Amino acid sequence: MPSIDLSPVRAQFPALAIKDAGRPAVFFDGPGGTQTPQAVIDAISRYLAYANANRGGAFRTSRDSECILVASHEAMADFLNAASAHEIVFGPNMTTLAFTLSRAIGRELTPGDEIVITRLDHDANRAPWLALQECGAIVREVDFDPADCTLRLDDLAAQLTFRTRLVAVGYASNAVGTINPIAQIAEMAHAAGAWLWVDAVHYAPHAPIDVQRLGCDFLVCSPYKFFGPHAGVAWGRYELLERLRAYKVRPAGDLPPDKFETGTQNHEAQAGVLAAIEYLADLGRTYGAAFASQFPDFGGRRLALKQAMAAIQSYEQPLFERFVAGLWAIPGLSFYGIRDFDRFDQRTPTAAFRLRGHSPQAVAEHLARRGVYVWSGNFYALAVTERLGLEGSGGVVRAGLAHYNTLEEVDYCLACLREMV
Ligand SMILES: Cc1ncc(COP(=O)(O)O)c(C=O)c1O
Repeated sequence: MPSIDLSPVRAQFPALAIKDAGRPAVFFDGPGGTQTPQAVIDAISRYLAYANANRGGAFRTSRDSECILVASHEAMADFLNAASAHEIVFGPNMTTLAFTLSRAIGRELTPGDEIVITRLDHDANRAPWLALQECGAIVREVDFDPADCTLRLDDLAAQLTFRTRLVAVGYASNAVGTINPIAQIAEMAHAAGAWLWVDAVHYAPHAPIDVQRLGCDFLVCSPYKFFGPHAGVAWGRYELLERLRAYKVRPAGDLPPDKFETGTQNHEAQAGVLAAIEYLADLGRTYGAAFASQFPDFGGRRLALKQAMAAIQSYEQPLFERFVAGLWAIPGLSFYGIRDFDRFDQRTPTAAFRLRGHSPQAVAEHLARRGVYVWSGNFYALAVTERLGLEGSGGVVRAGLAHYNTLEEVDYCLACLREMV
């Protein structure tokens, strides 16, 4: 049983009341995008109703709009523990931001410079770097161990050379849930003289992020995976963002983040991101006080956010343990990723599995008929399903827990799966 009860927060999410198959829908699709609390929905419509304007005007809605945009950058800086809000770049999604910033990084490279990527990553953290081969960059790949889907750090060490300029790695795998040891990887990358780029899209809804403690140079995430609207956020060390030459129009600002925030941004989404961060901070204040001692260097909203994510982590863990124990007891079920309970701090509550005799798509369809929402396939983590030899046969079923899920939902999903055996 979780040591804290987060079930009261469910009332804040209108989608959790949607009825499907005669009961409230079970959202185990969080790794593809989480549900939003009412406060986020309200903030978006309030922006459109009362502050809808472009930037830089002398009139009231433009000034109000500017305040919201500044506040959303500050909120994300607090969430990630950035040194300043000028290190936060908004964009339409992580993939677009990765292409934007990788192209600017490409301008720093000379032919023969090397970039290291991994087979454990989503394609959005591979394709932008592979595209730099057009500028003469050499891209090397780090393998993972198919037995437990953990990154092979020995292989990472082997791929690093004096020509490595950047290492691109995921904080956690969106397919199999493995959390990578980012602080250790940062040391390895920096020892080789390379920058570290971290894709935190899958990790962000599950645990605290502290870019300063991690020691990375860039980190990207997507607020629609942590209870906000569809948007992407990139963080970079200020001096690096300042140094990179952006692809930009002349009238746009020359300093970060403006030089990377191409065109007119999605202002209403930024209003929603601000509300999502406030939702999490409230959760931290209400349920996370017991975790404060873990974060002695933090105060104010930054502390509340760390408390929130620590509370979420501690709530999700026992739920997930019960889920995987139930999965393993199902005859004919193959499970991918770390299986050792003692190492569950090295994974997110995202389960990847297959059921003998059924395609992953058939399992997802069966669960959908029962009102349980999961994904099947490769989720764009194509290199993972290829490495596991599953790409030709439909990939895996992915069921991911979020802090608004319950033990009762876990048991119901397991019962629905047992019907298929
Ligand atoms: C780990 C990971 N990286 C990157 C992405 C791409 O994010 P976006 O949809 O914001 O481009 C996803 C989306 O599922 C993801 O899970």
